[in-house]
Amino acid sequence: MIDVEDLSVHFGGVVSLDQMTIQFPEGACGLIGPNGAGKTTFFNVLSGFVTPRSGRVVAMGQDLLSMPDYKRARWGLRRTFQTEQAIEKLTVFDNVATVYEHSTRSGKAGRSAAVEAALEFVGLTDVAQQTVRALGAKERRFIEVARAVVGSPKLILLDEPAAGLPDAETALLGGIIRSIPERVGATVILVDHDMSLVQACCDWTAVLDFGRLLASGPTAEVLRDRNVMRAYLGTEEVA
Ligand SMILES: Nc1ncnc2c1ncn2[C@@H]1O[C@H](COP(=O)(O)OP(=O)(O)OP(=O)(O)O)[C@@H](O)[C@H]1O
Ligand SMILES: [Mg+2]
Repeated sequence: MIDVEDLSVHFGGVVSLDQMTIQFPEGACGLIGPNGAGKTTFFNVLSGFVTPRSGRVVAMGQDLLSMPDYKRARWGLRRTFQTEQAIEKLTVFDNVATVYEHSTRSGKAGRSAAVEAALEFVGLTDVAQQTVRALGAKERRFIEVARAVVGSPKLILLDEPAAGLPDAETALLGGIIRSIPERVGATVILVDHDMSLVQACCDWTAVLDFGRLLASGPTAEVLRDRNVMRAYLGTEEVA
């Protein structure tokens, strides 16, 4: 479980997280909310880019915010960003290997097997030795997920991982994300504006609005909630 308690982040006069309190269960969880609701800020706090004004995050019994950033990666925290992070001139293999090396104490030991497993998991084995520069949008997005699952992650934060992909590829990625808890053994928090992707991947979903929890529970119920529809979509109907 990931227990978030009274988490507040202010940027000058902007309140991005306002005493955010949520308990994420283990498995694949959705985190949705309108633009500017604080979703990426929450990920930035967990990964150490942003220091909160107050609050606590305890993930699987571990107080995350008291750990330096590099220890969070070794503990098993991974994230993807709204924009791709893969290095153009490196091969797909090396892009994933870099994350492995930064997130384990063992350096290169076990590296090949771990990277190969991550590439196989996302279906990129065939392009392992190609440079990212040579690849299209689909492969680039899938590399981000391979970078997130390599090693032995415990908690994976995915920030709009399917952005820009057509429906068929989004559905393929959704199947991969859905299988992360069982096949990789990590809990996933998926941020996305694509409700069909969230529904396909996540049994449980939380909704943020103005930096606060608006609703949480089984995904289908949350998406039917009138307050959620009003706040998030400005409509009475979801997907
Ligand atoms: N570094 C920063 N400096 C100032 N304000 C920031 C900073 N980062 C985020 N904010 C503000 O905090 C609020 C929450 O932003 P955040 O990026 O977390 O939203 P989001 O839910 O990820 O939105 P989106 O769905 O558009 O990605 C917004 O008002 C944003 O402008
Ligand atoms: Mg965001």
